[in-house]
Amino acid sequence: MRGMTRIPPPVTIPDRLIDDVEEHIIRDERRWTGVVRDGGGVSRPLLILEIAGELVAVRNRCPHRDISLLRGRLDADRCILECPSHGWELPVGGADLRGAPVVERDGRLYLTARVWTGPGTGGTGGVRG
Ligand code: FES
Repeated sequence: MRGMTRIPPPVTIPDRLIDDVEEHIIRDERRWTGVVRDGGGVSRPLLILEIAGELVAVRNRCPHRDISLLRGRLDADRCILECPSHGWELPVGGADLRGAPVVERDGRLYLTARVWTGPGTGGTGGVRG
């Protein structure tokens, strides 16, 4: 029809499988590490935290010196992860530590394409095991 603008369908980005998942207990909290791989075989290290019953994945590297954040202290009420090396306080879901909800299906974890900005913005919580 003339004069009508076609609106393209929304692009759906599929959830991505998280590989090499390992569970850790850090100060009585369960956390997971894993990697997501892109099509070119490049791996990105993830740290999965449980905040207010939701699972949220962040890049498992401190923006200061590129070390693992696994052993960082988590203040879940403030959504702050403190780097274990020099103590930088990193807001989970902030510019340096963007988060994405993680979903569990059939015993495997998947990284979603959504943006996590705080409790109630999209995780599912609950990893079996
Ligand atoms: S390496 Fe994280 S604050 Fe320095």
